[in-house]
Amino acid sequence: MSANKVVVGCQWGDEGKGKIVDLLAAEADVIARFQGGANAGHTIIVDDQKYILHLIPSGIIHPGKICYIGNGVVIDPFGLKEELDFLTSKGIDYKGRLFVSAAANLVLPYHKLIDSLQEKNRGTSPLGTTMRGIGPAYVDKVARHGIRVADMFNRERLKKRLEYQAVLKSNVLTGSDDERADLDRTFNELMGLSDLFEELAADVSLELAKAQKKGLSILYEGAQGCMLDVDLGTYPYATSSNTTVGGALTGLGIGPKAIDQVVGVVKAYTTRVGAGPFPTELVDDTGEELRRLGDEYGATTGRPRRCGWLDLVSLRHAVRINGVDSVAITKLDVLDEFDEIKVATEYELHGQRLSEVPLDLVDLAHVRPIYKSLPGWKTDTTGITNFADLPENARAYLEFVAGDLGVTIALISTGAQRKETIFV
Ligand code: IMP
Repeated sequence: MSANKVVVGCQWGDEGKGKIVDLLAAEADVIARFQGGANAGHTIIVDDQKYILHLIPSGIIHPGKICYIGNGVVIDPFGLKEELDFLTSKGIDYKGRLFVSAAANLVLPYHKLIDSLQEKNRGTSPLGTTMRGIGPAYVDKVARHGIRVADMFNRERLKKRLEYQAVLKSNVLTGSDDERADLDRTFNELMGLSDLFEELAADVSLELAKAQKKGLSILYEGAQGCMLDVDLGTYPYATSSNTTVGGALTGLGIGPKAIDQVVGVVKAYTTRVGAGPFPTELVDDTGEELRRLGDEYGATTGRPRRCGWLDLVSLRHAVRINGVDSVAITKLDVLDEFDEIKVATEYELHGQRLSEVPLDLVDLAHVRPIYKSLPGWKTDTTGITNFADLPENARAYLEFVAGDLGVTIALISTGAQRKETIFV
């Protein structure tokens, strides 16, 4: 029996968790996603096939693995149906091995409409959301009037719940000619999916407990990154869920002892989409070069990502708040061509040095990173599979990062393909 691992992103999302989860899923029996929604975009490349999944755990691509979507995820039922059809078109049979928590809240078309209106209302300082309705759906959940998967199985109950939404959201929905405001249409479309969801629905917490009892190994899959955590990230420039390890406990209904190891995914440099402070952002040719070499465009929205050097200050925060045991470093090969590679080791704020992320966002927006410069390796590392075969400067870079963070390196990704990986 291998250990039960949780995989979390340690930066602002887009660390390459899709590939890491795909690799770790090979050793697991069960894969369970615990938070977020279709704002995520997990890209998995297997030979010449590319899969981009937003809601369904990446583990589904491995034949025979059981996958769960937990109560902490907000599910766009129409998006989920599209993903299921996509899997079917790729010859992947999900029946009997993909289950969805009956307690998960739904993201409905009006949530997307509200998301876009709220972004417009924020005027010159929008959050830069993915417009997938995530924030408004979590707001309804916490306000205790959200609509959950189980509500789809009772026609009258669903109707009543939607009628209540019409009252609650009348200022947005009444008189709107946007089809996403049409609750009758939403009702009919949801009823069209209710049989499908009845087949998928499960008590995920209970099923995971049973799996554990049987000695099966479980991989808990997070989305986004810890700097986007609604409590511990760069609030309000955050997503609306707990992207950190705590989110796995509440988002799946498991206890802390159900997790044996915490794997943090760290891209070898930093990127961020959407607005908010980003101390090591490079708005110069080097930033452009990182974007070009790393193909840094969003998997969900296609937006160009903001790029910068690795930031050890924010990574220390990520390691601490998640209790990270080991890291998976991704996209090392993107740094191959640089003469020098910088790493922020501290920040400076009003003449003072900081080694931790300041909690006040205004302070974080004003810090200046203090860099350590390391020599580049100027050698193609694409596809290297042995740590010893990496150029000396690349090894030194990785060892410096792991040493500072006090973690071990579990694996290093040197390309998009499964086989382009170093298992350390
Ligand atoms: P929301 O989650 O769509 O509400 O967006 C809130 C913030 O989180 C925005 O800055 C988004 O760009 C960011 N975000 C949400 N999901 C992801 C993701 O999967 N990767 C990277 N950034 C994300």
